[in-house]
This record gives sequence, C-alpha cells and structure tokens, in this order.
Amino acid sequence: MTDWTAGYVADIGYTYGYYLELNPLRVKLAFLNAGLACPEFGTACELGFGQGVSANIHAAASVTQWHGTDFNPSQASFAQELASVSGSGAKLYDDAFADFANRTNLPDFDYIGIHGIWSWISDENRAVIADFIRRKLKVGGVLYISYNTLPGWAAFAPMRHLMTEHADIIGAEGTGILSRIDGALDFTEKLLATNPTYSRANPQIAERITQIKAQNRHYLAHEYFNRDWHPMHFATMADWLEPAKVGYACSAHYLDHVDAVNLSAEQQAFLKEIPDAMFRESTRDFMVNQQFRRDYWVRGARKLNPLEQVEQLRAQKVILLAHRPEVSLKVTGSLGEATMQEAVYNPILDALADHKAKTLGQLEQALKDQGVSFAHLTQAIMILAGSGTLAAVQDEAMISKARKHTDKINTHLMNKARGSNDINYLASPVTGGGIAVNRFQQLFLLAMSQGKKQPAEWAQVVWQILIVQGQKLVKEGKTLDTPEENLAELTTQANAFAEKLLPILKALQIA
Ligand SMILES: C[S@@+](CC[C@H](N)C(=O)[O-])C[C@H]1O[C@@H](n2cnc3c(N)ncnc32)[C@H](O)[C@@H]1O
Repeated sequence: MTDWTAGYVADIGYTYGYYLELNPLRVKLAFLNAGLACPEFGTACELGFGQGVSANIHAAASVTQWHGTDFNPSQASFAQELASVSGSGAKLYDDAFADFANRTNLPDFDYIGIHGIWSWISDENRAVIADFIRRKLKVGGVLYISYNTLPGWAAFAPMRHLMTEHADIIGAEGTGILSRIDGALDFTEKLLATNPTYSRANPQIAERITQIKAQNRHYLAHEYFNRDWHPMHFATMADWLEPAKVGYACSAHYLDHVDAVNLSAEQQAFLKEIPDAMFRESTRDFMVNQQFRRDYWVRGARKLNPLEQVEQLRAQKVILLAHRPEVSLKVTGSLGEATMQEAVYNPILDALADHKAKTLGQLEQALKDQGVSFAHLTQAIMILAGSGTLAAVQDEAMISKARKHTDKINTHLMNKARGSNDINYLASPVTGGGIAVNRFQQLFLLAMSQGKKQPAEWAQVVWQILIVQGQKLVKEGKTLDTPEENLAELTTQANAFAEKLLPILKALQIA
C-alpha cells in the first residue's frame, strides 16, 4: 500500500456511482417541508468525490461553482477530464483532506457535500473535515453528510472486524485486495456453518453475508476493507459538528420526512412525548434500527413562518421523471411496503403526466375540486420525490445556462458508453442533477444525435458498436447468439425507449 492512503483502500478504483443526495437543488424541498429557510447555492464543495461523477454532473447541470477533492490521483484525473469536457469550471483536486483544507484559493461555501466518507476515515481526518466546515461553510450554509449509524451496524461490527483481520493476516500477500476479500468471505461462511453462538445471538448476520457476497467487489473493498470503519451514533455526530456551529436541519432522504411510512402510530406517539429534538432523533434511530443516515445540517437554521413556508412551497416547481402508466403507488419505508392513497396520488400524477414542470401552487389549483388539500399535496410530493418518481426543477435562466455544459458532458458520456457500462447516468439542466440512463439507452441517444430517426435504425447502430467488440446481449440469463436475435432484442428495447423514456429525456433537456 502506498503511503498517501492513510489506511484507505487505494489499490482498486472506486465505482462510478452517482448520488442524487449530493445535488444542492434537492435541499430546498426538504428545508421547506421542515419549515426552514434555504440559501442560494453559489458555491459548493464535495470532499472525497470518488470518480467525480456526482460532482461533475452537478457542476455541469447548475450555475453553482463547484470545488472538490479526492486524494486518489487516478480518480481525480478521471474527474478532471469530465470537468474539462463539460466546461463547467469545476475545480477538482487530488489533495488529501488536510492539504485541501490548507488551500488559499478556495472560496467560502454555501454547500458542502460529504457522501460515503465520514465512517471510513480516521479521527484525525474527521477533525480536519470538522475544522474545514467550521472555517469554510458560510453562515446559513448547508452541510450534507452521510454516515454509517448505530444502532443499525452494532451486530455486524465484530464480523466486519474479523473479515478485515482475515484479509490482513491470512489473505495471501501479493494476491491483491479482490482475492483477499473473496478469501475473507469464504472464511466467514465456513465460520457460520459451525453454528457459532455469535450468529445464534445475531441471526441476521448470515443473511447479511449472503447479501455481501452478491455485491460488486470494488464497492466491498471500499465499504468494508479499509483500516477505518466507524459507525457512529447521531448524538456523537452532533458533538463532532458542534464546534463548526452547524446544527441538524432535517433528513436528506425525503421518505424520512413522512412518519406514516416509517413509524407505527405507537412509535409516533412515543416520540412526540420527547421534548428534545436531538434526543428524539437518537430515539427514532432505535425505532428504525438506523444503519445509514443522510442528513442536512445548517450553520444557523432560520425558521420560516407558516405563511412564508406555504408561499415558498407553492413556488417550487416539480417534474414527473417516470412514465405515468408505470408509476407504482407502492413505497417502501422502514415499516415495509405501503400503498399510497389513489384518491390523492392519481390526480397529482395525472396533472404531471405531460412531463411539463409545474409549481406546487399550480398543482394545488388544478386539484382543488378533487379533495386534495395542500398538506396532502406536499406530503405526496415528498413521497414521490423520495421514491425518484419526480424531482424539483430549477429556474429557467439557470436551465438555459446549464444546458450547454450538460450537452457536452452527456455527449462525452454517451461516447464512453460505446466501450463501457460504467456510467449509467446523464445530466439534466432541468433538475440540476443526474438521471438514470443505461448503456443501450445512451447509445440510442447517440444514434439519434447522428441523425438516425427510427428505433430500428438505433438498434442497428448499437449492434454495430457491440459486434466489433465481440459483445452480445444477455436476456433472462441467456446469451443471444445470432445477429438476428440480438437485433430483435435491441429493437424491442429501442421501441420501449422511444415510447417511455425518450419523452421524459426531452422534457429534461437531455435529448
Ligand atoms: C467510499 S469512497 C466514496 C466516494 C464518493 N463520495 C461516493 O460516495 O461515491 C471514499 C473516497 O474518499 C477518498 N478519500 C479517503 N480518504 C481521503 C483523504 N484523506 N483525502 C482525500 N480523499 C480521501 C477515497 O479515495 C475514496 O474515493
């Protein structure tokens, strides 16, 4: 292991994930729902951006000036290439957090985003980050931070410890982290097969190991096999952030805002009796056995009065991201799967079915004769945004400024999709963020940009791209062997794309 890593897994690159929670445009709806004033995001910073997919999509799709760092130079180099092709002006470095914090060329930030970092670094680095937030987050600025949480990880923590010990002590030197991970997982399974008292006391462990075995090894390396892995109580997190003068604002995971899908009536009543908001949050973590928190913190929360709150909510625009006939009214919260009320949700979804952006005020007007109150509407918007069915929309002027950068990054990503399946997102100037578009769908868009008009022609273009690389489609676990079978499947996918996703991508100014 090289010496810049500080115990962090660096011998294999991180995955090319996109995390919509890092999109500052999502802060507003959450803050308004919680009755809090939301700042404008002129400057933003992401610490530990991985391959930089999120940072680059957010920089391209907004007018926010982005900065960030990740000390892995291969990842930073990939991220810098995306910044350069999009022309977003994002300044992305390969500094360790301590070096980045000492830079003299950084502005103060309206937003700092830290996803998947806090639990996987040392106390020393946590102190560097907490101090960076103290010095660089503006008054009124928002911190988004996610972290592994207790009590949810309490039972698994010893098992994770044993797995990393196996990788260090028994794992063969020089075989690389991937084979050490497989060795540790095999060992764990054999251990569980002996029916140890530990797994009898914690019956969920075997299930967790089965889930882990099915996951991407690059992800596992970064998730479990670092030197540092420290799930934390919510109250401990608050202690860390207290010197930075940031206080808890609300969850960035919108579904957390709706008690009905997460807590029983008895649990809600129990929590209501707790007068201290922070202690209530700690107790709530026991109700849901919280494993991973995604939270907004703010430097100086400002309460909106009820009139301001409703006015600002009414002005918020949203857009439907899903094909209306396929929208499910089922949603999964901590209580399990729940079905939303048709009488409330169907009129809202119908009003948004044309994929035109509408304000909550316009929706309120459109639905006023259908018995949908503004409180119902707001809750439904939180649920639908939380399940990814709709998203907040930014101002027209910002959309048109962002469009030239999203066009460039999207063209680059679509060209990359010819040879790889790494990045399954494109940038929308409308939502200021990433939208899931898989490899073949990106290639259909590429074919369209080359002047091909019909789905059958898009399928032909994609097939030519695949055939020169010796690639074939796999359907229901079976490789399609003949060109005819491959073309037929691609044509089916192209037709479905034209009917369902393309109108949405047009509305999102991706197509
Ligand atoms: C688990 S990954 C998360 C990446 C990204 N935020 C995401 O969620 O996809 C953690 C990242 O932090 C970076 N990192 C870890 N320690 C760091 C340090 N001290 N300074 C800068 N980057 C660091 C790693 O290189 C890695 O890309």
